[in-house]
Amino acid sequence: MDGYFKGVIFDLDGVITDTAEYHYQAWKRLAEKLGIPFDRKFNEKLKGVSRMESLNIILSRSNKSYTQEEKERLAEEKNADYKELIAKITPDDLLPGAGEVLESLKKHGYKLALASASKNASFVIKKLKVEHYFDYIVDAATIKNSKPHPEIFLTAAKGLGLAPEYCIGVEDAQAGIEAIKRAGMFAVGVGSSTLKGADVMINDLRDFDIEQYQTMVKR
Ligand code: BG6
Ligand code: MG
Repeated sequence: MDGYFKGVIFDLDGVITDTAEYHYQAWKRLAEKLGIPFDRKFNEKLKGVSRMESLNIILSRSNKSYTQEEKERLAEEKNADYKELIAKITPDDLLPGAGEVLESLKKHGYKLALASASKNASFVIKKLKVEHYFDYIVDAATIKNSKPHPEIFLTAAKGLGLAPEYCIGVEDAQAGIEAIKRAGMFAVGVGSSTLKGADVMINDLRDFDIEQYQTMVKR
């Protein structure tokens, strides 16, 4: 590895594994129970956003008001459903290309970090059996500002001992791409619909091409 970029910081949900779908299912179940309209389009607003903030976004569609205690109970209920869904995760649930990219980057000497807003990220990473690839995993409980704030990506870069400009961030959420750019990093967007501000878009990690990104650096 002798290019400009030295580290790669990955989001988890929707990038390494399809837990974004499980978050969607668990929120949908809660929203329906509360009589709040919920669909995939609305769910996009929740991607990369913390549990409590996600709940607040959902409840903003309700005309009932909820106490803090009620909100905590609802968030706990969603999390219990979510945990049931992720209990069954195995390495087969890695998204296409994820295992290969982690293996190859590690082999070529890149430093790797995980910047997920999920408090369940460590559990999921262990189930997928990819924990050993990461030099640093951000503890979501220590992050004060949700994506699109850059805090989580800046924390990850610091954890790797790298200046942000030497890092590439990989994200499937619009809020995540914004966080990466505000952190001063190169942003790779993952998914079929274009994410605003991404330096490159790829369908999935099979198309991740660090050699190409090394040539795109604006110094
Ligand atoms: C993010 C997801 O990674 O983590 C969000 O994109 C989710 O959808 C957030 O709400 C928090 O996750 P958790 O597991 O702590 O509720
Ligand atoms: Mg995500």
